[in-house]
Amino acid sequence: MFSRFRIFFWAAFGLAALGFAAPVSAQLPKDAVKLYAELCASCHGANQEGGQGTSLVDGIWNRGNGDDAYIARMITQGMPELGMPAFGATLDAGRVRALTVFLREREVREKEKGTRYAKPKLDELVTSEVQSFRVETVVEGLDVPWSITFMPNGGGALITERKGTLRFVREGKLVSEPVRDTPKVVAQGQGGLLAVAVHPDYASNGWVYLAFSDAGADGTAMTAVVRGRIRGGAWLDEQEIYRAPRELYRKGGNHFGTRLVFDRGYLYFSIGERGAQDNAQDITRPNGKIHRVHEDGRVPADNPFVKTPGALPTIWSFGHRNPQGIALRAAGVGGGEPELWATEHGPRGGDELNLIRKGANYGWPLVTFGMNYNGTPVSAETSRFGLESPVVQWTPVIAVSAITFYDGARYPKWRGNLFVGSLGQQELRRLVLKGDEVVSQEVLFRGIGRIREVAVGPDGLLYACLEGPGRVVRLVPVE
Ligand code: HEC
Repeated sequence: MFSRFRIFFWAAFGLAALGFAAPVSAQLPKDAVKLYAELCASCHGANQEGGQGTSLVDGIWNRGNGDDAYIARMITQGMPELGMPAFGATLDAGRVRALTVFLREREVREKEKGTRYAKPKLDELVTSEVQSFRVETVVEGLDVPWSITFMPNGGGALITERKGTLRFVREGKLVSEPVRDTPKVVAQGQGGLLAVAVHPDYASNGWVYLAFSDAGADGTAMTAVVRGRIRGGAWLDEQEIYRAPRELYRKGGNHFGTRLVFDRGYLYFSIGERGAQDNAQDITRPNGKIHRVHEDGRVPADNPFVKTPGALPTIWSFGHRNPQGIALRAAGVGGGEPELWATEHGPRGGDELNLIRKGANYGWPLVTFGMNYNGTPVSAETSRFGLESPVVQWTPVIAVSAITFYDGARYPKWRGNLFVGSLGQQELRRLVLKGDEVVSQEVLFRGIGRIREVAVGPDGLLYACLEGPGRVVRLVPVE
């Protein structure tokens, strides 16, 4: 014991003598808001408006480009000759990171105060950058509509309500009774009846797929996928497509994902990390992953971890927090092979759009652009060799939900664009891509309801499921 202490003492002393004094952060708050108040507000103002130091919310960065690396460098190295102290010896990397997220959040929020976004009323004309449209209500009277899928040949649409009901829409009207005998779901927190999708050959096989929070023992739950057919208003012929081993189910109502995406005989779906962030890195667990199975649930022989001892063979990618948007970028739209794209909710800061690659690790919680909800750091790093970086990250978060690529003919100038819905910010965003890069973003409208789903209908129009009140709208182009 004594000798260990002595080694520690001499090691610490030696490092200090060499100028590597450990940061004195231990006595400081971890929460970025409190840190700011304690260390920065005296010069930069209580609301970052400036004083002896410059404003940190005006979007003007005096001595650099204002990116995250610049802010972090300013905090650690300062500019003592100009009155900005260096905090590198006081603050550890995690706290510097959290302060950076906090300042970014404040800058964007302040800028938004001076920006006007379309908040269309029913049938009001919205003029956006390249396309005018009206927002038309198609179906009303829904309770948290989560997902929509369209049947071929004018067969109507199916909509999930999170509380556990599957609703049919025929000729623009909601069928009064929900489909009977659909699977029992755990409708709690973010869980419930989530995604619905009809099989690409639905016309010949009638399969409808559902993803939902499935109950395990002792109040646990995990995302599961089944398929079945609907006849006479009832759910029949149910087959299990995916259920995780029951002992891996978890308590809590957070982070179930999910969407259902078909591609050439395969089915992709996500499971959020269920609030257990470290599970996202553990490939013996189903949560925090995007999975790939055959359409009948069999495990594809070329999945990345089929030969890894202990790994769950359905895993396609891992290190995810809570992916609630998955979409296929069809061949042609992106120029090459079809690509799988996914969005995921960040914590406070760090919502992500990712291009999904086989077997890849998307980094949560080892790296992130966000911090914990209470302002403390999750990680000091935003990227690391061997971990995938997002194509886009949003700080502050928009609470990113569903996505869809537009490949139709009704809005020719939107072809190839990615449409992104958001819950918290209630935005519909249009992202313009060049290759695999996002070159610009436009907020088409904001503030008319949390957007759970974005999809393209058989009529080539964009549809969205909104909350509060629960309804489905579509964007009707106006010349
Ligand atoms: C003693 C006063 C003082 C304190 C305390 C202080 N700053 Fe500064 N800070 C300054 C001054 C003065 C500048 C402007 C230097 C210049 O560009 O002339 C500055 C500049 C900056 C910049 C660059 C701004 C730009 O426009 O490029 C950042 C970022 C920054 N401070 C962050 C912080 C943070 C975060 C803290 C707390 C951890 C902090 N500062 C604490 C005085 C202070």
